[in-house]
Amino acid sequence: MPARKPAFRGSEASRFAPAGPPTDSARTEREGRYNSAKFKFLQQFQVPIVLILGIESSCDETGVALYDTVAGLLAHQLYSQVEMHAAYGGVVPELASRDHIKRILPLLDKVFTDSGHSLLDVDAIAVTQGPGLGGALLVGTSVANALGAALNKPVLGVHHLEGHLLSPLLSTPAPSFPFVALLVSGGHTQLMSVTGIGEYRLLGETLDDAAGEAFDKTASLLGLGYPGGPALATLATKGDDRAFVLPRPMIRSGDLDFSFSGLKTAVLTLTNTLREPAGGISDAHRQNIAAAFETAIVDVLTTKCINAIAQTGVSRLVVAGGVGANQRLRASLDAAANRTGFQVFYPPLNLCTDNGAMIAFAGAMRILANQHNHFFANGAFSVKPRWPLVESA
Ligand code: KG4
Ligand code: ZN
Repeated sequence: MPARKPAFRGSEASRFAPAGPPTDSARTEREGRYNSAKFKFLQQFQVPIVLILGIESSCDETGVALYDTVAGLLAHQLYSQVEMHAAYGGVVPELASRDHIKRILPLLDKVFTDSGHSLLDVDAIAVTQGPGLGGALLVGTSVANALGAALNKPVLGVHHLEGHLLSPLLSTPAPSFPFVALLVSGGHTQLMSVTGIGEYRLLGETLDDAAGEAFDKTASLLGLGYPGGPALATLATKGDDRAFVLPRPMIRSGDLDFSFSGLKTAVLTLTNTLREPAGGISDAHRQNIAAAFETAIVDVLTTKCINAIAQTGVSRLVVAGGVGANQRLRASLDAAANRTGFQVFYPPLNLCTDNGAMIAFAGAMRILANQHNHFFANGAFSVKPRWPLVESA
């Protein structure tokens, strides 16, 4: 059955018009690969899987990307709502949903223009199904589902953390399985054992705040805006991390769990003791607190990674999620890797925080691994605001 034409209205139809037949030689090679028995499931859609459209809208970033299973990442576009939420000191869910609605079609448009492909070239659509904000997730999933229905293409729901977890595979060199993954984002801090696509075992996680959340809350105590992680890291470069001694919670707990709320409280107590009569804290103190806080959190993360590597006996560590962009963390893990003899892999710096590329890529990996348990069926779809990664297998 030939693919149906997309049902866009008026001018929207023309902007997704076909860019002409695919001419690249890679296409012939791909068609050979994907017509094989392994991809029988996909053959019901009568298209070889080559080009995946990825959509991310789980929180405050709208991301769209096109990933080609042979040629790699062709295009990706991101719109961050950070400025809009900064005024409120955090993400306002209803504003986030409304903004995703506003951004998503122009981003799709741009990705197709940049890649030279048309919507009709897309073979499957991968979309973040959870976890995240319900309303925000609904925007991406409805667009993906509508496109899938209009184009008669399969739509696959991707776990947001799986996107982060696999994003280092978009780097060169890419890690091979098995590896230990440190997931450090605004909402999660987890150590996972990863033995293959969809094979994720939780080794340890935070008992309270996530690492990114601790960065954001501490940044807020230091008078920095939202999100505070990058701003705190910049402030810390000017400070002396030995000026104050902050706790390293659970560093010697013997397990692979974390706890960061005590560290945040220690910073609160410290800032209160350093407050000047007029109520402020000197720049020198703020810089030193930032450096001491960052070093404390990095020490804990590094120690737990070393322990996870020792416990699992694997020799590769993958770091993913927004906090993975932190330079002090990277330097510390690189030094530990050299000392202890393991390899460490990061996503490309611009793909550490939320983006559509990691969703397109995770979708492609699921498809290549012939795992189709999260495909939307019969035109119906759902979102999973709470969805443990280990249940996504
Ligand atoms: O993965 P992400 O974009 O979103 C979630 O899924 O949560 O991570 C965002 C988090 C925020 O808490 C942000 O402050 C933190 O990552 N972050 C950083 C840095 N860049 C982003 N934290 C420390 N240092 C950074 N350079
Ligand atoms: Zn994320």
